[in-house]
Amino acid sequence: MRMRKAVFPVAGLGTRFLPATKASAKEMLPVVDKPLIQYAVQEAISAGAEELIFVTGRSKNSIMDHFDKAYELEAELAARNKTKLLETVQEILPPGITCIFIRQAEALGLGHAVLCAWPAVGDEDFSVILADDLIDGKLRPCLAQMQRVYQEYGTSVIACERVAMDDISSYGVVETQPVAPGLGEIRRIVEKPKKEDAPSNLAVVGRYILTPRIFKLLERTPRGANGEIQLTDAISAMIQEQTVLAYEFEGTRYDCGSKLGYLKANVEYGLKHPELATEFREYIAGMSQHLNAAGPGGKK
Ligand code: G1P
Repeated sequence: MRMRKAVFPVAGLGTRFLPATKASAKEMLPVVDKPLIQYAVQEAISAGAEELIFVTGRSKNSIMDHFDKAYELEAELAARNKTKLLETVQEILPPGITCIFIRQAEALGLGHAVLCAWPAVGDEDFSVILADDLIDGKLRPCLAQMQRVYQEYGTSVIACERVAMDDISSYGVVETQPVAPGLGEIRRIVEKPKKEDAPSNLAVVGRYILTPRIFKLLERTPRGANGEIQLTDAISAMIQEQTVLAYEFEGTRYDCGSKLGYLKANVEYGLKHPELATEFREYIAGMSQHLNAAGPGGKK
């Protein structure tokens, strides 16, 4: 079983990051030195994706440019013997990987964005990655972990994570029947429930492996939470017909759609960065001492 195509819905307005996202895509925000979308693309490729389908909106040209060949830049770097940087630029898109860009004319929600990818996906199983959920997978990337589950069970797989009940209404939430440790069959799925209505604390995060049946179901999905066509609602219809598994991935997720999550990601990835780790660790250690000395409230 192969999953060759990955869909990246990147048409969101990124209002939580204004003014940074006024003229450029939130998926282009860098974590240390790479934009979020590049982490997402690398994760898809690590799970075997060969065709990358971006569903874009306004102000997303930077994403297109990022994955395009930059002849002038490459010639300039070559002329200046900046070999390492030249490699860094050339490695953004490995050979054999193709990109397709589809414009989502109206921002009608995640479900609608995925539906826009139908002509490019066709009748194949595919993955969806939401780039603002940056996941540092333990041992292997999150989508590659899910790929293993998909290979074994041959069904749709959705990444999930336990979250604090106070945050539950920001997510799709599932109720499952256990199948194996960290794996359950979804019995119920609801988008952004109130805390008191949530079926569990198991939240959907931005990684999905789906069968193409989802497109037919999305076509007849009415607007749901926030007046948007929700992918969660189409998955809710899908569980009536097919098995959909919820997989608790191993690793750490950073919600880079929120400022705090984004800051945390930069600190953690900075501490692991081959060129920066040592100096940055010293800086953070010095800062912690300073903060501890300042005591609660930050005043000496
Ligand atoms: C989307 C999905 C939601 C999921 C979340 C994960 O919501 O609709 O089900 O839990 O991504 O990040 P959004 O964050 O776009 O509101």
